[in-house]
Amino acid sequence: MAYETILVETRGRVGLLTLNRPKALNALNSTVLREVVEALQAFEADAAVGAIVVTGSEKAFAAGADIREMQPKSYIDMYMEDFFSGWDALGRVRKPIIAAVSGYALGGGCELAMMCDFIIASDTAKFGQPEITLGVMPGMGGSQRLTHFVGKSKAMDMCLTGRMMDAAEAERSGLVSRVVPAADLLDEALKAAAKIAAFSLPAVMMTKEAVNRSYETTLTEGLRFERRVFHAMFALEDQKEGMAAFVDKRSPNFRNR
Ligand code: HXC
Repeated sequence: MAYETILVETRGRVGLLTLNRPKALNALNSTVLREVVEALQAFEADAAVGAIVVTGSEKAFAAGADIREMQPKSYIDMYMEDFFSGWDALGRVRKPIIAAVSGYALGGGCELAMMCDFIIASDTAKFGQPEITLGVMPGMGGSQRLTHFVGKSKAMDMCLTGRMMDAAEAERSGLVSRVVPAADLLDEALKAAAKIAAFSLPAVMMTKEAVNRSYETTLTEGLRFERRVFHAMFALEDQKEGMAAFVDKRSPNFRNR
């Protein structure tokens, strides 16, 4: 499948999606949105893919939603198009998605990274929600997800001043899971994804679902959900295989069933 704004390939059991609109620092316009959603849905449907990496260029993961595309729009345009709602499709991808972020992840770029399951950042990464400098506010989840990740004080600071956070601060604040040298970013992200993709896919998907549930419900409900899913895992062939392999002192051979 040929895309205009992204590159798509598979490396072993890992689906790799690279944002590729270098002239606009990977600004997210409606073509990028359509292509990203299409490519992720194709990875989701492909039984040979067990995990996904989303990345950008060395200079920019994505410098935000496309300001030129948004600039002429009126309230009624935005409302009738339900602008940005297309990105909600990412939340329906059940396979794990790692964001590998180098350079700018600003506005919608930061929000796209936060829609992924975790973020591995290069030491050059810069995160920010600069929408306030444009006379607006985050519109792809930034005011909510950033607050969950880094807490109210830092989220307010980021959204109200529009300042950028470097990779070290992002790691300290819990926005990113690890920081690696820029030259190693893609390798490290692919290695992490390959590791996940070698596990039992249903177990991985159920684990993702359970962790995500913690954002949406009370502790009591979340714990109940976890226990039900944990019990259900004992219906998996992969549970039998994983535990038998441990007892037999050999590597497991998961069949994704
Ligand atoms: C459209 C963009 C863009 C964007 C960069 N470009 N960001 N085009 N939308 N978000 C384009 C520039 O216009 C320029 O095109 C080219 O990419 C290179 O950018 P430069 O500014 O020349 O690069 P540099 O000087 O290195 O500065 C990099 C930068 C800066 C600091 C990242 O580009 C910048 O501040 N970008 C905007 C960041 C931002 O505000 N993001 C939030 C967007 S709003 P030309 O053709 O001139 O060479 C958002 C959510 C909105 O994401 C939610 C509310 C509805």
